[in-house]
Amino acid sequence: MAASNLFTALPGGAKFPLLGLGTWQSEKGKVRAAVETAIECGYRHIDAAYIYSNEKEVGEGIKTKMTDGTIKREDLFVTTKLWLSSHKPDKVEPCCRESMKNLGLDYIDLYLIHWPMSLVDDKGVFPLGDDGMLIGDDSIDYVDVWKSMESLVDKGLVRAIGVCNFNLSQIQRVLDLPPRHPIANLQVECHPLLAQNELIELCKKYGITVTAYSPLGSPERPGIRTPTDPVLMDDKVVLDIAKKRGVSTAQVLIRYQIQRGVVVIPKSVTSSRIQQNFEALNFELSKEEMQALIDLNRNCRLLDFPMSKSLKYYPF
Ligand SMILES: NC(=O)c1ccc[n+]([C@@H]2O[C@H](COP(=O)([O-])OP(=O)(O)OC[C@H]3O[C@@H](n4cnc5c(N)ncnc54)[C@H](OP(=O)(O)O)[C@@H]3O)[C@@H](O)[C@H]2O)c1
Repeated sequence: MAASNLFTALPGGAKFPLLGLGTWQSEKGKVRAAVETAIECGYRHIDAAYIYSNEKEVGEGIKTKMTDGTIKREDLFVTTKLWLSSHKPDKVEPCCRESMKNLGLDYIDLYLIHWPMSLVDDKGVFPLGDDGMLIGDDSIDYVDVWKSMESLVDKGLVRAIGVCNFNLSQIQRVLDLPPRHPIANLQVECHPLLAQNELIELCKKYGITVTAYSPLGSPERPGIRTPTDPVLMDDKVVLDIAKKRGVSTAQVLIRYQIQRGVVVIPKSVTSSRIQQNFEALNFELSKEEMQALIDLNRNCRLLDFPMSKSLKYYPF
């Protein structure tokens, strides 16, 4: 049976596909084909970001599939993210417009603040000090960045806005504004070892959708992984469920999020895996299997981005 998409809804009612394709570290030369394969398989949601430096190729893949009639613009949900060196009020719209141009789109479905911290804007997109740490701009408050994001909705450049990597109190500060446009989405690291129950609870209360990034444990994560980190796709509980069901561990980890109503964006540039991951829409985990995965939670963060730790508003 061919898999078909499942959806959640954004605060305004727009359909938001529960499964999308991640594109962090998807190499130029591979990501265009990955996007095309994904759209052919049935994916209708692509997760991009300015800082992934591959938006142009992602856009080429989208264009090919629109030109050959596989999809129309309105069938596809595209997320991208504002980078930290573009947080000043006069930099937000240009950064958004550059992503739109890269992606070849005249609007973005969901635009996210990538991190609550800000970087200086005169030393490139990844300004590192001699100590190997990122150089921040402490004068910028993410609450003001949120206000600039709202003006992008007013102008029709983006349909919805949200945040990534905000902690509970940071989300609460935006909610306390109160926002003129709703926080439509929170994107955070999330998998059975880091279930994010508290954040999901808060988001549910305020109608904020949640997206799980690194749902497979992001096995590569260069510069972040340490030798003692657990390997999520090798976890015995996950392996046992996969074996019993005759599916892959990746499919179990994707399905776990879908059944919690959490949007999930596994990355792959491998055509067979892109297809396989999409087929996680095709089976159901039992109550007992879900419980076994829920019981794995130990607030184990695999992506703490060490070079950001000294920045004001670092969330973890
Ligand atoms: N907002 C943020 O700050 C943030 C941070 C991190 C990630 N993200 C988003 O979330 C997406 C997903 O997270 P991620 O890229 O960190 O990690 P992930 O999706 O957990 O894992 C991706 C890795 O798993 C491999 N893989 C994919 N499907 C597989 C399968 N069926 N079997 C075995 N291996 C498989 C991929 O390899 P191949 O590609 O070689 O197939 C890749 O190495 C990102 O791409 C990005 O869009 C957002």
